[in-house]
Amino acid sequence: MLLFPIPVNPIKKDPESTNTAKLQNSALYELAKSFTLDPERVTLEKEIEHYLLESALHAPSGANCQPWKWLISENAYYLFHDKYYSESFNDFNDLASYLSLGCAAENFIIAAQNKGLEVKMSSLPFGTEHKLKAVFQLFNQDTIPPLIMPHESTHLAPHIFNRHTNRNKGSQSKISSQDLLGLEESITSIEGASLRFVHSKKSLDELGELIAMADKIKMLHPQAHEELFKNEIRFTEEENLKYKDGIDIDLVDLTENEKLGIKLCGDSQVMSLINTWSLGEGLGKMSKDLIDCSSAIGFLTIDSNNPIDFFNGGRAVEKAWLKATELNLAFQPMTILPYYFTRLLKGKGEGFSSKDKDTLTHMWIRFNAVFPTPKECGQLFLFRLSEAKTPTKQSLRRPYNDIVCT
Ligand SMILES: Cc1cc2nc3c(=O)[nH]c(=O)nc-3n(C[C@H](O)[C@H](O)[C@H](O)COP(=O)(O)O)c2cc1C
Repeated sequence: MLLFPIPVNPIKKDPESTNTAKLQNSALYELAKSFTLDPERVTLEKEIEHYLLESALHAPSGANCQPWKWLISENAYYLFHDKYYSESFNDFNDLASYLSLGCAAENFIIAAQNKGLEVKMSSLPFGTEHKLKAVFQLFNQDTIPPLIMPHESTHLAPHIFNRHTNRNKGSQSKISSQDLLGLEESITSIEGASLRFVHSKKSLDELGELIAMADKIKMLHPQAHEELFKNEIRFTEEENLKYKDGIDIDLVDLTENEKLGIKLCGDSQVMSLINTWSLGEGLGKMSKDLIDCSSAIGFLTIDSNNPIDFFNGGRAVEKAWLKATELNLAFQPMTILPYYFTRLLKGKGEGFSSKDKDTLTHMWIRFNAVFPTPKECGQLFLFRLSEAKTPTKQSLRRPYNDIVCT
């Protein structure tokens, strides 16, 4: 029996039965072997190597899915996309994964430069179909090879392990124009990327409504709903420790009643009734409340919307996020809205009901009145900034030895 009125796509990411197999260590060597290495690359001490990889693993990822696998072989560092962890309705065309991989790449680069090394990165060396997404080689400063990465963000290295998502309700206190300028400037080395902010009450109210509407679409979408409760939210400490991914419910600033409400929404029969009786108005309220206590909303875009743009864009996101950490600003991504716009514009709304497509089309027009955005540009990241208490817990990561293959 169909509980939802629109067709349900098969759930692809399920720990028990998934269409996409986990990337096995044995396959990584095979996938990496045709890459030609530079003979002048250096051999790192184990301790430094560990620091670089730990930095990369601490990167943010959509719903903390950690869609990566690393191979260390012959003093080269290979970054793979492990789609087993990321395949989902919200990751349209793997673009959110590319962005997360870009964040990991940026942490790796900054950490290496912080140790006095030069970095050469080859991104998408075998194209987008190949699971290998980037290769890093390191050099001493006196062997400067061509194509090394510039150093403009090295000073942000001390913030790599403090950076976090802050979902606490903050204050609406004004952020200085100097700080906003600092954030805008933090990404200028990424070609085509741009960062804009709005902070007027009118713009924040409008975006708050649109974000709430996108959240409601997500909650009522069969596949997105099932993935949210199966893979994204971790309701107990036991679940947290078992999977070491997803979002710990304790990291979301909710009252006990709101937590109960969310648990109730996990029941697809409840959601089906809410949908049938058009009772979904409250579903996006929590996001709206968060915007009501934010100082500004930032929108990061890049000139086009191909995988490489999201990978490079991920580097820009990490730079801006580390800069916000340096400035002591609370940072929370709110990406469902731009990612659903991307599915609408680039994917012709595939997977949405025609009602959702119509709603999103109207929402896109309203969004453009706040942030005018060409259709073909890459909508990388929407996030809110505020002054808020630091969360009392850190999000977990899967164990190093499960992700880094040597
Ligand atoms: C592509 C991407 C999309 C994200 N979207 C959201 C979002 O919509 N809402 C949210 O609260 N956090 C979002 N996050 C933050 C992740 O949930 C967070 O990075 C992850 O849980 C790890 O936690 P940490 O950032 O505290 O290390 C996003 C992060 C990335 C990289």
